Formats: sequence, C-alpha cells, structure tokens
Amino acid sequence: MIQKAKMILEKDFKVSEVDNRIYGSFVEHLGRAVYGGVYEPGHPQADENGFRQDVIEMVKELQVPLVRYPGGNFVSGYNWEDGVGPIEQRPRRLELAWRTTETNEIGTNEFMKWAQLVNAEVNMAVNLGTRGIDSARNLVEYCNHPGGSHYSDLRISHGVKDPYKIKTWCLGNEMDGPWQIGHKTAAEYGRIAQEAAKVMKWVDPTIELVACGSSHRNMPSFADWEATVLDHTYDHVEFISLHQYYGNRDNEISNYLALSLEMDDFIKSVISIADYIKAKKRGKKNINLSFDEWNVWYHSREQDKLIEPWSIAPPQLEDIYNFEDALLVGCMLITLLKHADRVKIACLAQLVNVIAPIMTEENGTAWKQTIFYPYMHTSVFGRGVSLNPIISSPKYDSKDFTDVPYLESTAVYNEEHETLTIFAVNRHLEEGLDLTVDIRNFDSYEVVEHIVLENNGNLKQTNSAQGTPVAPHTNGNAKAENGSVAAVLPKLSWNVIRLAKRRKSIRFHDL
Ligand code: AHR
Repeated sequence: MIQKAKMILEKDFKVSEVDNRIYGSFVEHLGRAVYGGVYEPGHPQADENGFRQDVIEMVKELQVPLVRYPGGNFVSGYNWEDGVGPIEQRPRRLELAWRTTETNEIGTNEFMKWAQLVNAEVNMAVNLGTRGIDSARNLVEYCNHPGGSHYSDLRISHGVKDPYKIKTWCLGNEMDGPWQIGHKTAAEYGRIAQEAAKVMKWVDPTIELVACGSSHRNMPSFADWEATVLDHTYDHVEFISLHQYYGNRDNEISNYLALSLEMDDFIKSVISIADYIKAKKRGKKNINLSFDEWNVWYHSREQDKLIEPWSIAPPQLEDIYNFEDALLVGCMLITLLKHADRVKIACLAQLVNVIAPIMTEENGTAWKQTIFYPYMHTSVFGRGVSLNPIISSPKYDSKDFTDVPYLESTAVYNEEHETLTIFAVNRHLEEGLDLTVDIRNFDSYEVVEHIVLENNGNLKQTNSAQGTPVAPHTNGNAKAENGSVAAVLPKLSWNVIRLAKRRKSIRFHDL
C-alpha cells in the first residue's frame, strides 16, 4: 500500500533568508584536486593558464558561490609564501598531511584567478599548525591591503594590482585532531585563534572569521572543545566550524539514509553551545555556523593506503559515489536548509577529484558523480527564503535511529522571482510516497517541473567517464490544483518540485 505524507507551506513560516554561501565547496592541495583537476596544462581543454575549461563549466553549472582553500589538513603545514612569486623559484616541499610532494605550481594568485573564472569567492584558511599570528596577518595584508606596505606591494610586484578583498577566513583546520600538524588542546588553540583573529582584523576590519570546531561529532573532546574555543574567541569571530563525513560501511541503507538526523542533532548541539557562550558573556551577537566540510567519504579509504609516499598529485580520496550516496547528500542539503537561520556557510568537501561531485580523467573527460545532482539542484533552485514546513510523514526505526520520517523535505521561496521549490527525499525502500502539499497563500502557483533522481533497482549504481546512468529526469507527476500540490515520490528518490506564479497573459484591451 502506498504511504501518504502531508506538508503545509506558508509564505510567512520562515526559517531565514538563505545565505548563498551554504552552497560552498572546497578545493584542497590534496590528491588530484588542484593538479589534474582544476589545473592540467597540456590538456586539450586547458586555457592559457592551464585551467581545465571542462571543469570550469561544470563548476559554473553548480553555481558554487564560495570555495574553501587551500586546506584542510594541508594548510596546517603550508607556507603561503612558497606559492607566490615566480613559479620556477618556488620550492618543492614534503607535504606531511597527505605524504606527497607539493610543487607549489599553484598558489594564492593562481587560485584566486581560477575562482574569479568560476564566479566564486574564496574562503581562505590560514596555517595555525606550524605557523601562527605573523604569517596569518601577513597573508591578510598580501591579499586584502591596497598597497604601500611590504606584503601588499609584494602582491603588486607579482602582477596583482587590486586587493582581492577576501571576506571569509578560516582560523586553521581541525586543530582538535591528533592527525593535524600542530594539533592543540582547546585552550592552546583558543588562545592562538583569538590572537590571530585580533591582528588579522587589525589589518582588515571587514573580514569575517571562522574558528575551528570539532573534526566530527564523535570526537572525545566535542562540546567542551567548542565551549572553550568560543570562550576565547567570542569577541573576535563570526563563525564556529563543523565537519562531518558519513559512510554506509555496514551496508544498511535505512540506517545510512537516517544519518542526516544525526547531522541535524549535531547542528542543534553546536547552536546551543554557541548560545551558552553568548549568555555567559552577556553577548549581543550570535555566533553562526560554518559547516565547512560535509559529505559522504568511505569508498576510497582502503585504496588510499596503497599510495606511494611523496608522489606528486596521486589519486587520493577518489570516492566513486553511488545512487544511495546521492540520496544521503540530498538529505544533508535539506538539513542545512532547515537551519538556514544559523548555518550561513557550508562547504561540500570537496569539489574536484577528491571526494567530489566532479571527476576528471588525465588528458581525458570530466564527468559528473551521482552527488553532483542534488548539490546542483539546491544551489541553483534553493536561493531565497528557507521555509519552515509543517510535515506529517509515516516513520520507521533503524539500527541507530527511531522515528525516521520517510519524507525528508523542505522548501525555498524566492519572492523576487515568485518561485517556490520543494526539495524532497523518499527514504522508503519499497514504496512510493503520496505527497500532498498545502500551499495555501501561494495563489496561482503552478508546477514548472518535477525533477526526479530515482533508482533502477541497483542502489550501488555509479557514474563514470563512460556514462552517467544515475542522472535526473523531469517526468515526475507533481500537479498543483486548488491551493495544493499532489505528487508521488517514487521509492528511494530525490525530488525537486519547482513551482512559479502563473504569469497573467496580457490581453490587447489591457494595454
Ligand atoms: O576533506 C578531506 C580532509 O578531511 C580534510 O583535509 C580534513 O580537514 C578532513 O579531515
């Protein structure tokens, strides 16, 4: 028997305006993300800078507004000065985070040029592992100061006259993790983050700063870490970061698809810690959340153990995503939207070749992973106001979760363009979900299209350079009538129901 679910959408039930930066992504000097992904001189599609134009086109399709750079674990051992100035004079370094050799062929200025080509802002991370306050404030000066000082003039001498005005900056990366170069206790990190933040803002008071939260929710120091770090940095930062990766290691799909409930809980916990510190400080400002690493990551873990140490740009973290991964990514995107009032930055980790929606073949094609689609749909159609839907859905229990709704859904209203977009996942393994959405005060809205990503019976289906069997179609059956939308969401499917206000046709006698 087909299951039924209901949803009510009201223009005035708002979570918040969506900050477009929640559709951000991440490019780290890791594996083939930069070398072989973004940059492959000699490739038939390379432009005069060596940037692959096929990759640029796909990044533009995703409309990525923000890219975190240059790491990740990489940044904790990185000397940014190695990556600027004449390329032939740049040093080769042993890159200790990923045990590779970094050639430094691409550095700050090359990456900023690429970011401009894809219309993205950069979320720049500074090294608080092996470096500290001095190199952080110098990098801000190099990037953002107009001129007339040592580092701003150095940038100008490197051919970049105008400052980049980079707005968002990360104060290091995952400093709570023992694997991190320069790992610190919460108190040690809190102090250095506070002092680095202070002087970075003395150089450029317009910047926004992200302090490192926990590397994931199961870190033993989680919660105490956030409280201690924010106790030190509350007056100096705008954001605390969250990182989380999931995998279906036990091959239990019902449990796997429920992991976005854990993500939801993680977000709520970090909000409550940030608010506790605000209360303790009798503060006025909210610390917002930067979920600046999130994705599925588990397929490539074994293969990565075989990498030859100190190779240049080896294939690392090249997860090949399947259909079920795309559904979880869809659920995670919906979860981020539901918290649009506090999650103002999020970065799908990563963008090209490394746990990425876009893959490239050396000297060959670029292709789209399964997760490309939910990411693209939300980024393109999910701009406007995140609505707070009232949902009633049948539920199930899984190994680790109780009361998991079969329907995971939310909606974004764009007042300017008079569009309403419903994003929905049906978690049911065997049955379609008969969805009715009461759209009450969305008068004269009609369905533009109902996009569906559904499965052909093989949940492990992947895409490849040879073809994309996992790709959406627009044959969903959503219909709008008398203030409500009716649709059947196929079993295990990702759905995008796009509505727009009917345009009145202008008749001759109205003119
Ligand atoms: O995104 C891959 C790695 O995951 C990042 O370098 C690190 O921050 C995290 O552990």
